[in-house]
Amino acid sequence: MDLLTNFHEPVLLEELRTAVLQKKSGVYFDGTLGFGGHARSFLKDLGEDAIYIATDVDDYAFDYCKEQFQNDNRVRIYKYNFVRIDAIAKIEGVAGFDGIIADLGVSSYQLDEPSAGFTFRADAPIDMRMDKSLEKTAKDILNQESEEYLVEIFFKYGEEKASRKIARKIIEKRSEAEFKSTEDLMQIIRQIAPIPYQTKTAQRIFQALRIAVNEELHNLEMFLEKAISTLMPGGRIGVISYHSLEDRIVKEVFRYQEKECICPPGLPICVCDKVRTLKVLTRRHVAASDAEISSNKRARSAKLRIAERV
Ligand SMILES: C[S@@+](CC[C@H](N)C(=O)[O-])C[C@H]1O[C@@H](n2cnc3c(N)ncnc32)[C@H](O)[C@@H]1O
Repeated sequence: MDLLTNFHEPVLLEELRTAVLQKKSGVYFDGTLGFGGHARSFLKDLGEDAIYIATDVDDYAFDYCKEQFQNDNRVRIYKYNFVRIDAIAKIEGVAGFDGIIADLGVSSYQLDEPSAGFTFRADAPIDMRMDKSLEKTAKDILNQESEEYLVEIFFKYGEEKASRKIARKIIEKRSEAEFKSTEDLMQIIRQIAPIPYQTKTAQRIFQALRIAVNEELHNLEMFLEKAISTLMPGGRIGVISYHSLEDRIVKEVFRYQEKECICPPGLPICVCDKVRTLKVLTRRHVAASDAEISSNKRARSAKLRIAERV
């Protein structure tokens, strides 16, 4: 099977490359290599002495790209969480990056492959770990966490109005039999949500579990902070997100880093010592064109933000 054509059409490719790739012989970091869609396009434009360092926590994506890029000596691939960007820079002995990209969330492969346990469209063990070395799966959360915890993640990460009812039903059901599969969770959702809302409710609940299992928001915050500090002056960072919680974090971190002063209004002199580290290049996020959306439905919710290190 050709993973490249079947599972990943890189999103906002031209927009990301044009904004981030400025130096042909620069050092680049791709935090979410996936099946190498963005990487392949960057590498086509980069010179022979460029360096392209990439990470992905997914075993399958890692093995696939290791093989795909084995003959390109500009590429170094790590099966690491992207939050280790600073450690990777040290291992590679690079002073910093001229460009950093992250295309957040899960790949189409992870979403569509039943055995990964992310999708509610097929019955499979409910796992949801992108990184299989993580200890806790979605199944563990459903069977072990408290009702309050479940309400909180469904509400915070899924923005689901029926969080309480769904969490209650989960607790009731697990006292009879443990949750094992995506279908076990779907049965609860079908009992609570009216038919026209079942798909949307399932999307929200599955998203919430995925975010919790992979600690996605916490990792994103850590990654942005470290990424900005490893960017060379004039270097650019581009982040593509797929839901409002991620996009809000990217927007707020960029805005904060752009500020010169965070003193309360009215102080006669600045006492905050805040240093401006970024210039935001996208006041509003960049969205995919209608043409891209019509050929790739994943692009529909994509939001790209770009900033430059000052
Ligand atoms: C949307 S896909 C990236 C697709 C890639 N840009 C391409 O064009 O093929 C996201 C990828 O990031 C990986 N990923 C998500 N969070 C990660 C993290 N914190 N650290 C490393 N990889 C991560 C996932 O395993 C997945 O393969």
